[in-house]
Amino acid sequence: MTKTTTDHRDLAARFPNLHVLDHPLILHKLSHMRNQATSTKTFRQLLREIALLMGYEITRSLPITHEELETPLERVAVPVIEGKKVAVVPILRAGLGMADGLTELMPSARIGHVGLYRDEETKEPVEYLVKLPKAEGRTFILVDPMLATGNSAVHAVEVLNRYGVADDQIRFMALIAAPEGLEVFTRAHPQVKVYVAAVDRCLDENAYIRPGLGDAGDRLFGTR
Ligand code: URA
Repeated sequence: MTKTTTDHRDLAARFPNLHVLDHPLILHKLSHMRNQATSTKTFRQLLREIALLMGYEITRSLPITHEELETPLERVAVPVIEGKKVAVVPILRAGLGMADGLTELMPSARIGHVGLYRDEETKEPVEYLVKLPKAEGRTFILVDPMLATGNSAVHAVEVLNRYGVADDQIRFMALIAAPEGLEVFTRAHPQVKVYVAAVDRCLDENAYIRPGLGDAGDRLFGTR
């Protein structure tokens, strides 16, 4: 039987911007999500839980400043996160399931949306919805569970760029990536840090990640 994922130590040299968050809890939950027998309800819950756990690591490097306050006993300078509230930006529609976990972790995060569909003739992503918070001084976490061809992810970063968000303000978070998608994305946006739970074997001829978990949007929303 083949294992699901690529050994991430081999990937470090190829993709210096890649962070594989292979915490045992994340991997265990992801394995349940891969199971075709897992219900929509459980799939949705696991995606939210994994996003929350990944969010904990992704936000580790947020800058800290100090604010003064009075405890019941004395005045102290306490650490708080510096700057504007983080923006979570799901790529519609499957990104919504991961955004839920992040906003549970950061209830005051701003939420943007980027809606893309693939034009059947040109095969290029087309925007149908873009709503974003103000860019200045803010970290943006762009989320989409499957980094497959990389085309939507590249396009979504370009949308953020157009709205004044620089690559070094953006972190991209996915559940599973294909090496092909990582190649495309890293070449286009080497400054964007990419966080994934697993890197799978390859893309197939229908642009599905193998072994993957199928269509993330359909499994999340119970559609076909
Ligand atoms: N999108 C999905 O939902 N699944 C894949 O395997 C690839 C792209």
